[in-house]
Amino acid sequence: PFPWYEYMRLNQPVWQEDGGAWHVFRHDDVKRVLSDYEFFSSQRGTTDDPSNPIGASLISSDPPRHRQLRTLVSQAFTPRAIDDLAGRIEQIATELLDSLPEGDVEIDIVERLTTPLPVIVIAELLGVPANERARFKEWSDATIAGSRQLDAGEELTFSDAQREMVKYFSGMIAQRLEMPKDDLISGLVDAKVDGESLSHIDILGFCILLLVAGNETTTNLLSNALYTLHERPELWDELTEDPGLIPPFIEEVLRFRSPVQHMYRTCTSDVALSGVTIPAGSHLVAWIGSANRDEEVYQGADQFQIHRTARNIAFGHGIHYCLGAPLARLEARIALEALFARYQAVHIPSLEACKPVPTSLVYGFESMPTRLKRRR
Ligand code: HEM
Repeated sequence: PFPWYEYMRLNQPVWQEDGGAWHVFRHDDVKRVLSDYEFFSSQRGTTDDPSNPIGASLISSDPPRHRQLRTLVSQAFTPRAIDDLAGRIEQIATELLDSLPEGDVEIDIVERLTTPLPVIVIAELLGVPANERARFKEWSDATIAGSRQLDAGEELTFSDAQREMVKYFSGMIAQRLEMPKDDLISGLVDAKVDGESLSHIDILGFCILLLVAGNETTTNLLSNALYTLHERPELWDELTEDPGLIPPFIEEVLRFRSPVQHMYRTCTSDVALSGVTIPAGSHLVAWIGSANRDEEVYQGADQFQIHRTARNIAFGHGIHYCLGAPLARLEARIALEALFARYQAVHIPSLEACKPVPTSLVYGFESMPTRLKRRR
């Protein structure tokens, strides 16, 4: 998509698609669209439609409801709570890597590491039993892609997935109301601000949002990091020798290959961006992937360069800034450290064999056959 983004930034930075949605490509415009909620609304569904809890969730709401929801869920989802997970994430990464054959291996890294790690972490955070995890992954895939082919040849549609998740999490919430546990769902049930707590449908929406927002995104961050290390083999040694470089490396992967390529908004009134007036009521697509490659902000934007001063906007900007950013960064760092400890190099033998994710929303790989060379 990157040459197209560049063309659009230069020639049609604000472009309407066939009388439909408006697309925005420049960094400053994207940043404004993501953060200026007075003009660009995130609201999608209604707050009381039980068939679409994400439509009413944090990510799809505007102030004042957004402020209230974010304050409430933040009580259960604190940076401290995330830091406390580090030890457990290390264990999960270790178990996943220990389950690989000994010596040098050739595996689908997406199947063996980058998918299961975030799925297990979210499932444990929510307090979901281990044997439900496969279903978890199917639900999140079907929600992002619109449907998902199951191994048995059946299809799981978007609405099947929503219905199943609603049923599943309703059961979980009812259980926690009866008998609280030390997990996020109980934390959400207990959260209170000014005497207000979250409604059943708010909790449901948040659980489903975490599942969908937290899995595939983190998987792709990790896969993209490994793809980058394949392209730049010298970085494997540099990062192994100086682990302090891992966080800035992850930031540059987020910029260079942003897992989330775009986000939607709706204009609340006529508004001008880069000199083009967009009418009230228009649907907007803000291209994060393009903003992160804008030469106006990132010199040599098409080069991968650790240690940039300008921050990327891969996690968004403003009031909707990704709640899971600390968790995604932590998981990526721990997974890379675990790989560096065991292996001395990564190589992707056939780029044709790698399957990109088939949607323009996320950037990453559905499968990535990867060779890992064991340390001797
Ligand atoms: C919001 C990206 C991982 C939960 C967002 C937004 C972006 C984003 C761009 C802003 C949406 C908007 O402005 O409309 C990413 C990327 C990730 C990632 C690139 C991984 C590399 C996670 C994880 C979780 C999570 C691990 C949770 C476990 C959320 C939530 C929101 C959000 C709850 C909504 C926040 C709000 O509306 O106030 N994410 N995300 N994300 N993300 Fe993430």
